[in-house]
Amino acid sequence: MKTLIVGMGALGGVIAARLFAAGGSAALATRDRPSADALKSSGLRVTGIGGETQATPQRIAPLEDFLHDRFDLIVLATKAHAAIETGPALASCLADGGVLLPIQNGGVPAMLAQQLGEHRVLGGLSNLGATMHAPGIYEQRNAGHLLIGEFAGGISERAEHVKACLGRGVEIRISANLRGAMWSKLLLNCSVTTLGAVAGCTMRQYIDSPEGRRAFRGAYDEALNVALASGVTPERMLVDPIPTGWHGRSEPGDSYDAWLETVLANYGDLKPSMLQDFERGKTTEIDFINGYVAKLGRDLRVPTPVNDAITEIVHTIERGELRPAQMLLKEILRSADAV
Ligand SMILES: NC(=O)c1ccc[n+]([C@@H]2O[C@H](COP(=O)([O-])OP(=O)(O)OC[C@H]3O[C@@H](n4cnc5c(N)ncnc54)[C@H](OP(=O)(O)O)[C@@H]3O)[C@@H](O)[C@H]2O)c1
Repeated sequence: MKTLIVGMGALGGVIAARLFAAGGSAALATRDRPSADALKSSGLRVTGIGGETQATPQRIAPLEDFLHDRFDLIVLATKAHAAIETGPALASCLADGGVLLPIQNGGVPAMLAQQLGEHRVLGGLSNLGATMHAPGIYEQRNAGHLLIGEFAGGISERAEHVKACLGRGVEIRISANLRGAMWSKLLLNCSVTTLGAVAGCTMRQYIDSPEGRRAFRGAYDEALNVALASGVTPERMLVDPIPTGWHGRSEPGDSYDAWLETVLANYGDLKPSMLQDFERGKTTEIDFINGYVAKLGRDLRVPTPVNDAITEIVHTIERGELRPAQMLLKEILRSADAV
């Protein structure tokens, strides 16, 4: 498959370097010419899980240079806003039968599929963890994989082709229920991750406070209700996506506590990536995570006051008007209760 990888950040860099090291090939697109020139001379270097590897890209250029070319596979590895912005132009760079593979968190792949047509977009999500220390210098942080699949469900031949192509470099798994898998990740991103970023700590550190527990339960339950109302069957990942005893909402008690313990055991100590965005003064992907759930909730008439309040407060932090702190969880509950 003639392949283009767009976005040479943490994930794009690791995928490209591992693919080249395994003898695969792809063109690489950066945002601008200086970034492409810098990577052309520095090359790509990955350390961490999976071992150290170095690779020299054969074809690397700013995205605009590729817009008249045609590709069988375009891996879209930018952050959410850039993915939504570039998606339509990239769709017109697809060869007949070609496919766009967005791998952003949250609602981005589904939004692109809806906008560009499911025949041109394969769903993707990343359980692969990666960090970019400097341009061209990447660290693979876990032995994770990319999960890909059809929005309509089932296992398609084109997903198998993508797996065969990218799977030379990084582990690719195909899900017959990709939409369900995406939602299961989104449920955790909306609760574990975003609340940790707002509180400025890990889930294990905020969950013991009454407001931490209530905010978690509110964000998770609302998102799960939106998922179910949209006809999705959330897929079991490391934890069961439906809390034990669920009946339209979770019920506090021993069963719920046991379920929460499994969430904590798997995700309780992770530093939220959104907190790193705050620390670096970057725009977050909140509109495609809690904001996406809230928007879909409005469309489906499922109330999402906690996710609305979280989205609002994250924007306030982005503007520099507040700093992450545990007391902001009380603020979220106050705003949600006022609705
Ligand atoms: N990293 C992880 O471990 C991980 C895990 C799961 C999911 N994800 C998701 O995967 C996505 C990518 O994450 P990441 O950590 O790899 O982000 P990242 O390190 O910020 O990389 C994004 C890259 O895209 C580039 N870019 C921006 N606009 C572009 C354009 N128009 N054309 C070409 N390149 C462009 C950026 O360049 P500039 O810096 O020059 O803007 C940057 O190099 C995110 O949605 C994230 O939520 C990441």
